[in-house]
Amino acid sequence: MQPEESVVIRRVRTVHGMVRPPGDKSISHRYAMLAGIADGVTRLENFSTGADCASTLGCLRALGVDWERSQNQVVVHGRGGRLQAPKAALDCGNSGSTMRMLSGILAGQGFVSELKGDESLSRRPMARVIAPLESMGARIESNAGGRPPLRIRGGQLKGIGYKMPVASAQVKTSLLFAGLFADGETRIEEPVRTRDHGELALRAFGAEVAQAGNEVCIQGGQKLRAIEATIPGDISSAAFFLCAAGLFPGSQLTVAGLGMNPTRSVLLDLLIGMGVRISVTQLEQHHDELVGTVQVEGSELRGTTIQSPYTEMLIDEIPVLAAIAPYTANGIGIRDARELRVKESDRIAAVAANLRAMGAQVDEREDGLHIPGRQSLHGAELDSFGDHRIAMAFAVAALRAEGETRIRGANAAVISYPEFYDTLASVTQA
Ligand code: S3P
Repeated sequence: MQPEESVVIRRVRTVHGMVRPPGDKSISHRYAMLAGIADGVTRLENFSTGADCASTLGCLRALGVDWERSQNQVVVHGRGGRLQAPKAALDCGNSGSTMRMLSGILAGQGFVSELKGDESLSRRPMARVIAPLESMGARIESNAGGRPPLRIRGGQLKGIGYKMPVASAQVKTSLLFAGLFADGETRIEEPVRTRDHGELALRAFGAEVAQAGNEVCIQGGQKLRAIEATIPGDISSAAFFLCAAGLFPGSQLTVAGLGMNPTRSVLLDLLIGMGVRISVTQLEQHHDELVGTVQVEGSELRGTTIQSPYTEMLIDEIPVLAAIAPYTANGIGIRDARELRVKESDRIAAVAANLRAMGAQVDEREDGLHIPGRQSLHGAELDSFGDHRIAMAFAVAALRAEGETRIRGANAAVISYPEFYDTLASVTQA
């Protein structure tokens, strides 16, 4: 599929079958980075198939980390803390996670490195990592307003106490990674608790991380040791199928190997509250990450309101929840979601534009949306805005729309879920 290629999605009758989502993107990035600076050989099964995590692997290779990949297995040969100075700018592609989290590691290295990204990433705010990493002792140059590319002069860092102004798991993880290389203790307080994959990954690799309330703390100078791990399925990718099943009363879907870390699984509670029947079996823990199989049965959907702290916990699922909102009985309100405007696209504007193109009434606000329920949508020409989650969210909305929906730039899905359209075709019945 070419980057600008479109897909056509038609109305279906129901959703039925089994989905095994790709390995979690957040965990794949973190495990790969920590494997690169650990002692020994790390073996990762079910590594994310998305292009974003391939960007992380590409950057690691350029930093002297050897790895081999065969399908979804990645074997990383750790360098034990010291990376190699890269010969050219590190290409983070579309991946904000790669740029922000890798910055934390590069801040503690004794060389200069440059991180660049694609057009979308080049617009995204990096001041949120630049400021605290500079106060730890790194020197970072950027474009105006803290935009990429970043030029990082790493060196000996010192631990800091930092109160994060914006809730961001990427920033928290970046500072924890930098804290590994710092003298003394790094203490981070977040405004609301965000996903804790960084903390759990550090512990899996043998580091001690203390956590209490919204505060996490790491001592510098800790050594990491390699692990063997199977990465849980990505709930943010599964979200498209969970919502698709929720759209059709009587649909039956099994999602196997699903990551259900409590800082990520709020979506399941939300959907249950909206009337979807969900049961969980085969619950296990891998390196403290919860994994299970869920059975989903659709029914008439009620609406809901999403606000802080749930907005932050559902941040990647909001596009698809908004896309199905018109089909609910009483609509969906989304508040405290200003961060959505600085994701891979302005997701508030993108959702509003596509819903309107499908004939929906939408109330767009600075920090969210209100989408009334009981609306009928029609097929339309939509745009992915180059954003993987917008493309997939509207493929789901199109399943119940009258007629045909064409999504331009649908190939953006490769960023997190290259198999998405094939999997969608395999579980939908016309
Ligand atoms: C992520 C955190 C979130 C999320 C992103 C992945 C992570 O971003 O939107 O897809 O892996 O930590 P922010 O940290 O910017 O909120």
